[in-house]
Amino acid sequence: LIIGGLLILCAYLLGSIPTGYLLARWLKGIDIREQGSGSTGATNVLRHVGKKAALAVLLIDLLKGALAIALVHLLYTLPSLASELPLTAKPWLITLAGIIAIIGHSKSVWLGFQGGKSVASSLGVLLVMNPWVALGTLAVFALVLGIWRIVSLGSICGAIAVNLLMLLLGQPLPFCLFAAMAGLYVIIRHRSNIERILDGTEPTIGNKLQQKT
Ligand code: G3P
Repeated sequence: LIIGGLLILCAYLLGSIPTGYLLARWLKGIDIREQGSGSTGATNVLRHVGKKAALAVLLIDLLKGALAIALVHLLYTLPSLASELPLTAKPWLITLAGIIAIIGHSKSVWLGFQGGKSVASSLGVLLVMNPWVALGTLAVFALVLGIWRIVSLGSICGAIAVNLLMLLLGQPLPFCLFAAMAGLYVIIRHRSNIERILDGTEPTIGNKLQQKT
């Protein structure tokens, strides 16, 4: 129980690191939450800070998700803990750490429980959970982005595709559950994007959203 509690806390704090907010503040002196979509993610940073900053946010946010899962692997390598932790619990702990980390990203304790839309952090989790599922999801995202030039549409399609990929690649139940929960969470976080896509007002890549919605 203590290990579980500590894991949840560490995963949440990792996810909570407000990368986009900090870089936008340091590099441009702006509060990224007051710009464009209001998201602290790489897409909004790309619009309002720049390419290099967006790439840094993307990579660090990926890393946050990946590290949360790496933490579970680490726990299982510690001789003092290995006997306490049943191996059957591992995929469940991975799923737990993953979900908590992506929630931490979008509900950061440092930003009054605001944040990003959990796309990069989810991909980071997937990369360690199953790299093939992660690459397949990324391919769907890239394909949709390439065709329609709308990042949020790519994210939403990736959030759906990850579920199919988990099933197609015969992944264990806890991982499939992660895909279902994270996919749903990411889609819910894109509510305002969905409205704008339907309205035809969602910005394409390289274009700015005029006002925060
Ligand atoms: O990764 C988030 C992306 O899908 C949408 O971001 O800023 O356009 O709402 P944004």
